[in-house]
Amino acid sequence: MNKVLAAAALAANLFVVTLVPCRATTHRSGADAAVRAGADVFRDHCAVCHSVMPNKKIVGPSMYGEVSGPNPRKTDTQLRDIVLKGIGRMPDFKDTLSSQNLDDLLAYLHTVSGASSQ
Ligand code: HEC
Repeated sequence: MNKVLAAAALAANLFVVTLVPCRATTHRSGADAAVRAGADVFRDHCAVCHSVMPNKKIVGPSMYGEVSGPNPRKTDTQLRDIVLKGIGRMPDFKDTLSSQNLDDLLAYLHTVSGASSQ
């Protein structure tokens, strides 16, 4: 019985240990492309109303630190939701942006915070 538990614990550890570096490396090469694509999405669809500078309001609030950094105001899920449905005077993008666009956009937005390492 103990052996089974130990094996399970070991398997769980191995899972975590192999998963983490794997994510880090596979993420990296694709990440740059996603960030670049996301920057384009932002420029084309968001930048007219949102800056990525701290506290710089255009029409809507700055996206600086919106989903990353020490005090993110929104989770990724909340941001997707807002972009898909719109909020207040912000239009919805459900017919404009694909889920790939949204993934890229989030990758980009994760780089616009003081604490970002990307
Ligand atoms: C036409 C102007 C406009 C465009 C384009 C626009 N937004 Fe907005 N956005 C707003 C306004 C105005 C608000 C504030 C809404 C309110 O609370 O009334 C807002 C709010 C938000 C919020 C919530 C901010 C918070 O913390 O409360 C997020 C997130 C957001 N926008 C992301 C985006 C993204 C990403 C895009 C591009 C896909 C985008 N917006 C495009 C005007 C715009």
